[in-house]
Amino acid sequence: MEENKNELELIHSKALEDVANVKTSEDLQNVRNEYLSKKSKLMSLMASMREMTKEQKAEFGQIINKIKTEIAEKVEAKKEELEAKALNAKLEKEVIDFTLPSRSYSKGSKHPFQMVVDEVSQIFIGMGYDIAEGPEVETDEYNFELLNVPKGHPARDMQDSFFINESLLMRSQTSPVQAHVMKAANGVGPIKIISPGKVYRRDDDATHSHQFGQIEGLVIDKNINMGNLLSTLQLFVKKMFGEKREVRLRSSYFPFTEPSVEYDVSCFNCGGKGCSLCKGTGWIEIGGAGMVHPNVLKMSGFDEKEYQGFAFGVGVDRIAMLKYGIDDIRKLYTNDKRFNKQFNRD
Ligand code: DAH
Repeated sequence: MEENKNELELIHSKALEDVANVKTSEDLQNVRNEYLSKKSKLMSLMASMREMTKEQKAEFGQIINKIKTEIAEKVEAKKEELEAKALNAKLEKEVIDFTLPSRSYSKGSKHPFQMVVDEVSQIFIGMGYDIAEGPEVETDEYNFELLNVPKGHPARDMQDSFFINESLLMRSQTSPVQAHVMKAANGVGPIKIISPGKVYRRDDDATHSHQFGQIEGLVIDKNINMGNLLSTLQLFVKKMFGEKREVRLRSSYFPFTEPSVEYDVSCFNCGGKGCSLCKGTGWIEIGGAGMVHPNVLKMSGFDEKEYQGFAFGVGVDRIAMLKYGIDDIRKLYTNDKRFNKQFNRD
């Protein structure tokens, strides 16, 4: 019994020493096998209890259990210690370096076409106009007939169009929105709208693209006259190109207006003296306008004796090119980011 106790004490102290010296989880597994498994030395000492008296068994059994529990606790503590160490080592390796420069990203910018649309829209919204929209695939009726351009009318030649079938085409102008808005109003004014949008024609050179933008303007009310049209254009041009700018009207022809004009702005580059931008004339052409033709009013359900109106068109691409010094209209449609972002003023 005493001998066994001594051996037990030896195993006990050796076990504690071994656990303390453990460095890896493999070491720990070996220690566990050596002292706690069924084939361990402690177990073989337990077997020796068979030869002991009952009292000796009780005493020895208690001691051996206490030692076993202690070793098991130390092994468990060691296991936790090793796990914590492994976790810390991993975290240290994965440390985030806040001094690294962040990834750069490029900020988008508004397209010069859209910049013009937005600027013109804001000016007219400020004058109490609503924004109206119309379809880009349009009927012959709306694109031409309701605008006083019947089949066979020579004015159709000016707008060489993309027809989809006999009666459908990609709209060649935003003017058909006039007819849509008037019909929706059921012959009751006032109407005050602008309609920005894309239009299509069979054109392709440095100043003409098969797709381009127009902004249509329409005012219908009682007692509307040419003076209202002129003052509206003057206000628009001053807001758009500067307070010193003047408007010039030249007589022209459009089938849907009578009288018809083209309107110019005094050159915002040279102030009217003459330069390369205005080709020496001092004036820059902006668009067409006029008093809404009585036939157009009538066809879209308005009493032409009671109501009058004026209409105007603004060329979006033309203004963008003049304003930002763009030499080829096609640059507006090729989506080159290096080109597009030059005009961002935000
Ligand atoms: N739609 C015409 C064009 O594309 C432009 C235009 C002229 C619009 C006179 C108008 C206008 O509203 O009154 O050539």
